[in-house]
Amino acid sequence: MPSFGTLDREAGNLSRQVAEALREAVRKGDLRPADALPSTRALAASLQVARGTVVEAYEQLIAEGFLESKAGAGTRVALALAQPPSAAREPRVAASQAAQTGLPERAEAFASIGREFKPLPAVPFAISVPTGMTAPGDIWRRLGNRLRARGPASPTGYADPQGALALREAIADYVRKSRSVRCEADQVIVTSGTQQGLFLASQVLLGPRDQAWVENPAYRGVTAILESLPYRDAMVRVPVDAEGLDVEAGLRLAPKARVAFVTPSHQYPLGMPLSMARRAALLAWARTAPAWVVEDDYDSELRYEGYPYPALQGLAPDRVVYLGTFSKILFPSLRLGYVVVPPSLVDAFCGARVLMDRHPPTADQHVLAAFMTEGHLERHVRKVRNVYAEQRLSLIETLEALLPRELAWIEPGDQGMHLVLWLDPRLDDHQLVRRAANEGIAVRAASPMFAAGTARPGLILGFGGFSRAQMTAAAERLAAVIAAARK
Ligand SMILES: Cc1ncc(COP(=O)(O)O)c(C=O)c1O
Repeated sequence: MPSFGTLDREAGNLSRQVAEALREAVRKGDLRPADALPSTRALAASLQVARGTVVEAYEQLIAEGFLESKAGAGTRVALALAQPPSAAREPRVAASQAAQTGLPERAEAFASIGREFKPLPAVPFAISVPTGMTAPGDIWRRLGNRLRARGPASPTGYADPQGALALREAIADYVRKSRSVRCEADQVIVTSGTQQGLFLASQVLLGPRDQAWVENPAYRGVTAILESLPYRDAMVRVPVDAEGLDVEAGLRLAPKARVAFVTPSHQYPLGMPLSMARRAALLAWARTAPAWVVEDDYDSELRYEGYPYPALQGLAPDRVVYLGTFSKILFPSLRLGYVVVPPSLVDAFCGARVLMDRHPPTADQHVLAAFMTEGHLERHVRKVRNVYAEQRLSLIETLEALLPRELAWIEPGDQGMHLVLWLDPRLDDHQLVRRAANEGIAVRAASPMFAAGTARPGLILGFGGFSRAQMTAAAERLAAVIAAARK
């Protein structure tokens, strides 16, 4: 392998040199994701170093997530290093294609959203990666086998677009008890995750030229929906402060808006809850306007200190559309979530849903219903919460020890599956994301979550699913990437 031409025996620490040469080989593309590595014996022989030197290098790279090793299958370059094409690299191609083919401008917006939302590889610090302790594991598999072989999850005809009754009942029970949501099963619509719930809400609740309040900063999944609407200025960005959404500012900017999209239990991405005073002000506006409040309660189960605020929906079930997801607490590829709507909106949401994809896949709905009614979800939530609380503390400690403080600092908060790392305003978070990716680290930039002209550079770091050793190794490399960016 050409990358090994440079082993410098005088300089010592050969295992570090071997590890660096392998990283370089991956960076340059000499080694690609899923490529098999030579056995430690063969590589040691060809480099004329002790076998232990190569073993040590492999172990280090496995801890960093560069390599993976399976019994009987040898050591390979981690599949997760396969990089999706970055949004920044290709937009012009799509734009010119859209112009050539006479597609509407909206097609360009969709093309760029498609690129932006490519999933991150499953290396630190991708968000919502359930592995080891946090994957639902054996019970999920056993229930799936049992229910798919016979019973309600076996193949059937078309099903209810609202979702399987057994699952809707389990969800209604769950959100009533855990989040004080006031609802019955016939107000629950099973969705393929919150993303679909947000899209359905935009379709049903907004008429042509209606405006919606959206927090600044906010989840790209919601701002991208509003940007993709066929008319401009649908989205009014409302600032957030330490108490969450600044309702007074919303009233000044767009008192006649028809919808407010909010994350009251854990502002995304900053983490603060919406204060009681702001909750009251928001609902008072919604009642008099009248307007709808869309409450995205995406990771309410994951609070580590104190008692969480109950859902906003419980205070105004007639004005709030409540969205929940199993992506965070179970796993995102499940693609199951829910919307709880006032009874008057059920038909409209179901109709919009039918036009999109008819109904959610039936089998997993029944597996999930059984997982919930047999008490596994509750146990799983408790377990995952403990694991994430530890992961979170360990990542904070590691970052605080390693980061150049004048360039990067952590936003305090006690919820969720991610941390926000603010960066010195002179640093470019997109550039850091690309440089981190070259080091096998997956982070998202915070600046796209802000309205134009208000952006702050930052990085979003997920801490679910990775071992302490993986996170420490990745944090060391991230700290080096940030320190180098200053130069
Ligand atoms: C604030 C927020 N809302 C919604 C979602 C989407 O969740 P889902 O996977 O259910 O579409 C996420 C996922 O990261 C999120 O962070």
